[in-house]
Amino acid sequence: MAWDPQAYAAHAAFVPALGNAAFELLGAVAGERVLDLGCGDGVLTSRIAAEGAEVVGIDADPAMVAAAVEKGVNARLGDGRRLTFAGEFDAVFSNAALHWMGDPAPVVAGVFRALKPGGRFVGEFGGHGNIAAIRVAVRAVLAARGYRVPAAEENYYPTAPEYRVALEAGGFVVDGCWIVPRPTPIASGMAAWLQTFRGGFIDAIGVPAAERAQVIEDTRAMLRPILADGAGNWTADYVRLRFAAHKPE
Ligand code: BEZ
Repeated sequence: MAWDPQAYAAHAAFVPALGNAAFELLGAVAGERVLDLGCGDGVLTSRIAAEGAEVVGIDADPAMVAAAVEKGVNARLGDGRRLTFAGEFDAVFSNAALHWMGDPAPVVAGVFRALKPGGRFVGEFGGHGNIAAIRVAVRAVLAARGYRVPAAEENYYPTAPEYRVALEAGGFVVDGCWIVPRPTPIASGMAAWLQTFRGGFIDAIGVPAAERAQVIEDTRAMLRPILADGAGNWTADYVRLRFAAHKPE
């Protein structure tokens, strides 16, 4: 799906802001070379660079790459499933991006190739059960309106054992792999969240532009008793998969 950097900055600033645990787990060291895989608009990439690391950001969305470059990030367009780097990074970092890349095998293989011996792969993304209530509600609303929703999920949300197997199959030694439930306050409200993060999915199902707002409103109404409190404050049912692994020497 295509991203709108302005909408992302307005409604999704919590994504890099809540990337602190992954950032700390990376523990970037001055002088080392780091690849930020799925760097988005470069907010966390800039933080890694501020530690003194030499960071390259890569993202599949041209508008997000442009937004990162505007922040002074060395960012480039690229597909995480077809990385072409070879033995040049001390670490590969990724926050809230791997779930968009699907099958982990080509991603893990490309990261492994990109790292120097001993290099680390550290990050966080959506884990098993991520935004489950939201996903079910979007599907239920679309089905009720007569749309055929594919049975397969559009994002990759593995369990910790599943991702550990994927990392090990790619040659990594796994230092840790955890599921971390992270209920996440959504300050902009559920309609803005759905517009930002599920708009592409709703379009891809074939919903005409004129009907999109009603799909979002019906989904918001279905979720209200589940994810909003009495005062109307929304909390999304995020679940993170956090991991640290390294390439053997
Ligand atoms: C996330 O887990 O970061 C996420 C997944 C899908 C849509 C929005 C956010």
